[in-house]
Amino acid sequence: PLKAIIFDLDGVITDTAEYHFLAWGALAKELNIPFSKEFNEQLKGISRMESLEKILVHGGKSTDYTEVQKRHLANMKNEHYKKLIDSLTPNDILPGMKKFILEVKNTGIKLAIASASKNAVSVITSLGLKDQFDVIVDAKTIKNGKPDPEVFLTAANLLKVEPKHCIGIEDAAAGVEAIKRAGMFAIGIGSLNTLEKADRVYETTKDVTLKEITKLYAN
Ligand code: BG6
Ligand code: MG
Repeated sequence: PLKAIIFDLDGVITDTAEYHFLAWGALAKELNIPFSKEFNEQLKGISRMESLEKILVHGGKSTDYTEVQKRHLANMKNEHYKKLIDSLTPNDILPGMKKFILEVKNTGIKLAIASASKNAVSVITSLGLKDQFDVIVDAKTIKNGKPDPEVFLTAANLLKVEPKHCIGIEDAAAGVEAIKRAGMFAIGIGSLNTLEKADRVYETTKDVTLKEITKLYAN
């Protein structure tokens, strides 16, 4: 039986994936590195420092900066990102997600967040959803980021639920891979092309219903 649903945060519960994109885009521009939506797909779900490294490698500039300078660049991006999420409110929850989360909760299924972001608690609090989750696991608590399964396995462990009784929901390819490596059922939000490893992909959050995913999971 389905006992828990473990949610990615950025791009699943709220559209902060767009803000990460904007903040990285601004930094790339300043560094004279080409940046596109397509390239940005590779940054979804991975940590801040890993994202920066990918951008620098993409621009052929990885060796131009020292570790200290790289930390500074990552901080600049985060300061910009924090300004963008400063005005987040419950109105920024993606379509259908609030209803879905409340429905899951009412059914007695446990809920967790498994996020690669160090800003996860701040974001979920601004959305007014923090109390709906039994467990929040973020980049501050884990060693290995997605696609490593650690963040999903840690969430399941804290919920005291076996991975096979969990569904994970993700918008990033790295996240879907992490869910599958954790031995869970994976729901992807986005395009089939990027999320091909998921057990089921929905184009948008409005398409996700508890009734249907419970049925898919049972088969
Ligand atoms: C993930 C996002 O949730 O968090 C990534 O998908 C982001 O785009 C990562 O880079 C790290 O976020 P933060 O807030 O710690 O810089
Ligand atoms: Mg995401």
